[in-house]
Amino acid sequence: MSTVPAQPENLMEAIVSLAKRRGFVFQSSEIYGGLNGFFDYGPLGVELKKNIRDCWWNDMVRRRDDVVGIETSIIMHPKVWQASGHVAGFTDPLVDCKVSKQRYRADQLFFAAVIVDGNTIGYVSALETERTQQDLQEAAEKFKRKKAVQGQLTAVAPRDMTEAKPEEIALIPSPATGEPGSLTPPRAFNMMFETYVGALRDASSVSYLRPETAQGMFVDFKNVVDTGRVKLPFGIAQIGKSFRNEITPRNYIFRSREFEQMEMEYFIHEDADWKAAHDGWIEWCRQWLLSIGLPETHLSLYAHPKEKLAFYSKGTVDIMFKYPFGVQELWGIAARGNYDLTQHATASGVPQMFFDEASKKKFTPHVIEPAVGVDRIFLAVLCSAYAEEEVADEKGNKEKRTVLRLSPRIAPVKVAVLPLLKNKPELVARAESLYKKLKRKYAVFYDETGAIGKRYRRQDEIGTPWCVTIDFETIEKDGTFTLRERDSMQQKRITEAELFALLDEQIF
Ligand code: GAP
Repeated sequence: MSTVPAQPENLMEAIVSLAKRRGFVFQSSEIYGGLNGFFDYGPLGVELKKNIRDCWWNDMVRRRDDVVGIETSIIMHPKVWQASGHVAGFTDPLVDCKVSKQRYRADQLFFAAVIVDGNTIGYVSALETERTQQDLQEAAEKFKRKKAVQGQLTAVAPRDMTEAKPEEIALIPSPATGEPGSLTPPRAFNMMFETYVGALRDASSVSYLRPETAQGMFVDFKNVVDTGRVKLPFGIAQIGKSFRNEITPRNYIFRSREFEQMEMEYFIHEDADWKAAHDGWIEWCRQWLLSIGLPETHLSLYAHPKEKLAFYSKGTVDIMFKYPFGVQELWGIAARGNYDLTQHATASGVPQMFFDEASKKKFTPHVIEPAVGVDRIFLAVLCSAYAEEEVADEKGNKEKRTVLRLSPRIAPVKVAVLPLLKNKPELVARAESLYKKLKRKYAVFYDETGAIGKRYRRQDEIGTPWCVTIDFETIEKDGTFTLRERDSMQQKRITEAELFALLDEQIF
């Protein structure tokens, strides 16, 4: 029997190791030393990712009457990115260390004055982690000891480098060298990847890999309206790759340079109650995350403070997830007014209006935009599903089992078919025929090697919700199989029809 499900202290390490060992995620170009910020998805990883995508597409597009899907190109006309504001403003603040040549995101590099008896005796710095405050406090204590200064040390008050005054920058030590004087003031670093389109390589052929999928929906707004028989409110959804030359990709697949987004632009009447629409979408997104198995305890909401919003934005709320490295943004839901369509109308000269039959008015619709990263959901799913438990084997001996408690909706393998013994042709034949039948509808795994307990463990580790064992009762008695459930490890007899009904109900 299972005891309390437990997660190891170093959960991220355990997840990275499992993901590599069982073929979920690999480092990109690993044999060449890897490329920072890029990842590959292995045989089980692609299945899990595809299931996340498919669930979103089905729930967001197919099962709704007010959302249509599109797929736009990754490289778009460069004017798109000028109009959207990305060429001028899609930047992160960058700080260089002139000595080590390391680069830091200024808002992730923290510093604090070391103040003793009210006098500043120097500065300490630390990269943003879960324990930045503590790191800075310890560094300040060490600094004071090193300088042999007597007196009362004030508790550190961390600030990030975007808040550093010019006279402070010269005194803040670089995290790479520990010495002051080598950090540059923050400057704007554009995160778009540039490329050239066509045979000429000059300024006229510069284009960009898209940093978000959203602009595809705005640029195709008129095409969809003219061809899609849509009426307000309606949404346009897209799933696709986006690229950002992040200064510091980190936390595994959480912040990478190539990632996948699932975005939807929900167009509403200019006089509509945007707040109600915004709140509605926040709740929809939250419910959707629960529907694929994320625990409610790990989700929270963060409303961006008004003073930090872009001038056109009416409000942005992020759904946050409790990752092992801290509570971080998973899904952003923004009320963007009519900014994007207006920008493209002005830049292209093509009006982006909607004629509303009901109000007999022509206007530029406003938009609510839920935008989420597939890779971030993937990581959230692994982080909350992973457990290590102590269980008893068939002989009553205690052993460790690693289990991914994935929702059947997204589990990469839905069911494993296991003949009890591989040297009994009748068992194998029945197992193979069931396997073939299941395979037409579901991702199924066939495994005949090793003790049955070992085979269950292999499936637990990759999150397979059910194992079906074909045993002597199957062929000699009533044709039923043993159905073993992953989380409870309970077993019961089940007919083929019941098995298909169970899968049909649980996998949607
Ligand atoms: N169109 C709006 C937009 O792109 P965003 O907050 O920059 O907004 C939306 O991105 C979502 O995309 C984020 O909430 C996150 O889930 C995902 N995302 C953004 N940058 C990412 C990165 N570097 N790596 C992985 N996912 C990322």
